[in-house]
Amino acid sequence: MNEAIMHVETEVIHGGFSPDKETGATTTPIVQSTSFSHETAEELAHIFEGRAPGYVYSRISNPTVISFERRMTALEQGLGAVACASGMAAISTTALALAGEGDEIVSGNSIFGGTYSLFKNTLSRFGIRPVFVESTDVHAYKDAITDRTKLIFVETIGNPKMDVPDIEAISKVAKEHGVPFVVDSTVTTPVLLRPREFGADIVIHSTSKFVSGHGNAIGGIIIDSGTFDWSNDRYPQLAPFYKKTRQFAFLASLRSLFYRDLGCCLSPFNAFLMLTSIESLAVRMERQCANTHEIALRLSRDKRVENVRYPGLASHPDNETAERQFSCGYGAVLTLTLGSKQRGFEFINGLQRVQNLANIGDAKTLVIHPASTFCLDATDAERVAMGVSDDMVRLSIGLEHVDDIWLDIDQALDGMTEETTDMKDSKEEEQNSAD
Ligand SMILES: Cc1ncc(COP(=O)(O)O)c(C=O)c1O
Repeated sequence: MNEAIMHVETEVIHGGFSPDKETGATTTPIVQSTSFSHETAEELAHIFEGRAPGYVYSRISNPTVISFERRMTALEQGLGAVACASGMAAISTTALALAGEGDEIVSGNSIFGGTYSLFKNTLSRFGIRPVFVESTDVHAYKDAITDRTKLIFVETIGNPKMDVPDIEAISKVAKEHGVPFVVDSTVTTPVLLRPREFGADIVIHSTSKFVSGHGNAIGGIIIDSGTFDWSNDRYPQLAPFYKKTRQFAFLASLRSLFYRDLGCCLSPFNAFLMLTSIESLAVRMERQCANTHEIALRLSRDKRVENVRYPGLASHPDNETAERQFSCGYGAVLTLTLGSKQRGFEFINGLQRVQNLANIGDAKTLVIHPASTFCLDATDAERVAMGVSDDMVRLSIGLEHVDDIWLDIDQALDGMTEETTDMKDSKEEEQNSAD
């Protein structure tokens, strides 16, 4: 059957999978084995040389993990994938495979705090210079590219700024300069967006979030769209791999060098958990996006709240870009500002069912205060660039009934100390102009 014509709802269940030939098992078994035994010395040597297929050692590849890679490859309509121990492992492995001492990474500035820190603090120690630009400013990417640029990086919805870069427009800039465009689609998942269709050369997910969906497994994945010409002499480290494997050069370099050497493999058990939960990804995303849209609308009309950021709101500056790029909804994360850090903390402490923890994309509704948690290391200027203020709270909306989520939010908003008259007035003005 032609897999390319499957809808995403079908692909999450069947993509890249056929029942086990030997046993007929319809679920990928957990192959919890470190190594794989072979009959002869010649056979193992041939696998090592890449002359024969087969498994050697689970740090390099594992049948359960490969099954997960195939599902994600099918979902992203890519050439192939390599699954990693975490989203951060996927991003750092990609960056280290493409860039080295003296090279540069051009990145949108509205990205997850951990990725910002990776580029700014960790990779810079290896001589890789990050150049941060305004995430939604297409011209800024163009101006930042030099001969040393080895990749352009964006998130599909900036976490936690909630801005939406124009993936297609940035991909044109990347193509003009012969630089691969790396897109972190964690918050959109293949259900909302297939970045390849908009020109992304490499798609990354932290699968710890919506793909896992139940807050029980850390993982990440790198998917090569198959759209970048790896014979490009900007990447001399890939030349030997290009000679042997042509368009698979990037994936081959990961498998037999960077990924193998960095040792950031996904465990078979986590791959199994993700293969199980991914089957419900489409329905979960549909419900979570619908819940989030409804909560965003209610919050945006609420006088106890100063401001709400959600790309699904008509008032959001990137609403048109989101509308053009996403199908099924606008994501399941939103932020709100409450006038002061104290009121933000009071709101979080007042929530009874919504859980205060560092994650997004769970079946449960979650809350966090970004400035004092995952953006703690950022300077004031960086926090402004990331759209983080002291009075901002992030919500990741779950699968519960929307009225129950609202009930908890509503009572927590009620429990905050009185808002200032100024805030009420500005909200009223905003409301009047929106009407
Ligand atoms: C957009 C995005 N990318 C990457 C990561 C890092 O993923 P992980 O926690 O799986 O390393 C996160 C984590 O929150 C994220 O939100």
